[in-house]
Amino acid sequence: MDNLGRAKQNDIITETDALSWGYTYLMCPPDYFGVFYEINPWMHTENAPDRDLAQQQWRNLVANIRAAGASVKTLEAVEGLPDLVFTANAGLVDGRRFVPSNFHYPERQPEVLHNNEWFRSHDFEITNFSSDPMLHFEGCGDAFIVRNQLIAGYGFRTDLASHALLSKLLGVKVHSIRPIDPRLYHLDISFCPLDDRHAIIAPVVWDKQSCQGLEELIPEPLVLELDEALTFCANSIVIGKTIVMPHCPPRVGRILEKWGYDICVSPVTEFLKAGGGVRCLTLALDVSYAPRT
Ligand code: ARG
Repeated sequence: MDNLGRAKQNDIITETDALSWGYTYLMCPPDYFGVFYEINPWMHTENAPDRDLAQQQWRNLVANIRAAGASVKTLEAVEGLPDLVFTANAGLVDGRRFVPSNFHYPERQPEVLHNNEWFRSHDFEITNFSSDPMLHFEGCGDAFIVRNQLIAGYGFRTDLASHALLSKLLGVKVHSIRPIDPRLYHLDISFCPLDDRHAIIAPVVWDKQSCQGLEELIPEPLVLELDEALTFCANSIVIGKTIVMPHCPPRVGRILEKWGYDICVSPVTEFLKAGGGVRCLTLALDVSYAPRT
């Protein structure tokens, strides 16, 4: 941008910059969703989500994702697993491989069985990153592909030691980031890659050392203030030139529009009561890491 805030030609995203993934998502309807335990600072069992509104918001999100040009596949809801709706945490996809999560909290551990069943029956090969039950990794809540590299979060849910194993398994380098604010416990609440050059980031909630060198991967970041980050605006998904967001603070919207993005706000207030937004409710199925030979 020039000093009057006008976009220069190269500020506008082009087809070649756009993310190559993010056109197919796995989602799980909120049939058994609720806040029945507390495993993050947003969850309060006495602040129950409205079931009908949750259904409505989820269906609206599916419609918005489809209208933006992506497809949605569904995982059947399971009674007793309220957080199964947050499919981002199921694991990560690399081509036809599915790498399941190893959840930090016992409340979410039984989800693995159902996720694996879905992936197996949809012709994915299940590949575990480790056989160590103590090594935690919470899938795409803490893992992103950026310029053929893994950017991964650790600290609250995912263990740092899992990153090296994932990096080896996927055949790519890894940059590890440590969120330090418990309210932004997964990386996908403070980080959202937009295209080859841009990303929404909230380094204010990251350990300083772990941000070093990030400029090389993200030359043009949109840096959030803490109050902006707390709205979950980074917990968004990008479908070509459309950003589907749970909320969009005015300053953030102005910058994204200047960069050529269309903003679609899809409210998910009921899911925020469980600590999850738009990104958390989706898992990209069309991701490939290292180019295969
Ligand atoms: N209640 C869920 C948990 O605490 C919310 C998960 C949000 N997911 C995400 N990708 N940030 O695990």
